[in-house]
Amino acid sequence: MPSSVVRIGLLGCGVVGQGFLRLLRERERLIRDSVGATLRVTRVAVRDPAKHRECDLTGIRVATDPLAVANAEDVDLLIELIGGESMLEPVRAALQRGISVVTANKHLLAVHGGELERLAADSKSTIRSEASAGGGIPVLQALEHGLRTEHFQFLVAILNGTTNYILSTMERDGRDFAEALQAAQSLGFAESDPTLDLSGADTAQKLAILVRRAFRMDVAYGSIPTEGIIGMELEDLRQADRFGYTVKLLGIALLNSEGLDLRVHPAFIPKRYLLAAVRDEFNGIYLRGEATGSMLFYGKGAGALPTAQAVLGDVIVAAREFVAGVRFLGAAEKHEPERRLPLDAVRTKYYLRLIVEDRPGVLAQVAACLGGTNVSVAQMFQAEGIRGEASITILTHEARDRDVREAVKGIAKLPAVRKTPRTVRIFDI
Ligand SMILES: NC(=O)c1ccc[n+]([C@@H]2O[C@H](COP(=O)([O-])OP(=O)(O)OC[C@H]3O[C@@H](n4cnc5c(N)ncnc54)[C@H](OP(=O)(O)O)[C@@H]3O)[C@@H](O)[C@H]2O)c1
Repeated sequence: MPSSVVRIGLLGCGVVGQGFLRLLRERERLIRDSVGATLRVTRVAVRDPAKHRECDLTGIRVATDPLAVANAEDVDLLIELIGGESMLEPVRAALQRGISVVTANKHLLAVHGGELERLAADSKSTIRSEASAGGGIPVLQALEHGLRTEHFQFLVAILNGTTNYILSTMERDGRDFAEALQAAQSLGFAESDPTLDLSGADTAQKLAILVRRAFRMDVAYGSIPTEGIIGMELEDLRQADRFGYTVKLLGIALLNSEGLDLRVHPAFIPKRYLLAAVRDEFNGIYLRGEATGSMLFYGKGAGALPTAQAVLGDVIVAAREFVAGVRFLGAAEKHEPERRLPLDAVRTKYYLRLIVEDRPGVLAQVAACLGGTNVSVAQMFQAEGIRGEASITILTHEARDRDVREAVKGIAKLPAVRKTPRTVRIFDI
């Protein structure tokens, strides 16, 4: 006899948890019709049970121990909305006893995703994490279902709303980095400690999660070469505009015969690219598949209701599986051995901006450094500055990443170079 009630244990009742409970209440009938059973939250774990919340917890056992909820007999499905490494133990405990898990925890999936998926497969449960990458954009479900058998060669994505908001604000309003960061913080798009976002680590975590699903490869997110947007100057965005580009923090996964080229860094992208139109706090995931061709997934990467909707989408699939006694994700998924193209060998174009002494012969010295490592110049622009300085902007042809970095090291040592050269890769392929 199929279950008429699916009992849920909810870890966390903060921004996303409260959003989830609101959707659960407001969409009750639709959910029941979709699942074929009622979803009932039986237990919630929070840090402070006495705290006032914008949701009705009547009839729910509210306590402080996430592990006890994960192990409770009256929980058929665990939703983890606390976040962080400390959730590994409760999530493992649930999976080990065959309880499926839905989580928004990108750290957990990026660091332990492979292990947790194997654990789930062994115990005939599942772990889903739509909200962990791309927030409210249902890209992981698309990869899990409709695109499950597709072969992808190309995934390029804007996965961090904070940095995208900062770059968009700098470009549109002519504000400098510090002002744009402050605006992002005052609107609630950036944490009070925005290091994870600005350093690119948040994007690298989300990229690792997407790559596991799209390329069926387990990637340790810490092994992804990662650069963030700290140090980006307004002048770089102005120069990008001059040459027909816009600046985005990209998560890049390109598969070719040499291996998977994985990296996170800010990049100049042509204004004609669909991703160039992904502005402010929005995210965009561009995929190219063998059969499907190009696709762009676009939407909100965070926020209470977009994220809660992504969680609810996963919960509905997991609850249907529970009711039907089947599961669609897990053991069948064979992961390919990881074949990586090292960053040194990646071929890319570069933007360089130099502040130099404005005197004859300097340009020749710069050109000699570039030529010395086989980097050729595609375009150049020189502007006279103040105090006997000149600003030189160079766009290179495609060259090996290591060769450009070597050339830039040489340029930085030239006595006529007044400031550390600014460099940004150009993603135009
Ligand atoms: N917010 C977003 O837009 C967004 C987007 C995508 C993904 N996510 C992910 O979603 C998850 C939840 O984020 P959030 O924004 O909802 O966080 P949040 O507002 O800070 O809520 C966290 C919840 O966890 C509870 N909690 C924290 N530590 C606990 C502990 N040791 N034991 C028991 N309960 C504990 C808190 O309890 P108290 O309420 O009692 O303090 C709170 O209810 C995170 O993994 C986050 O990365 C969030």
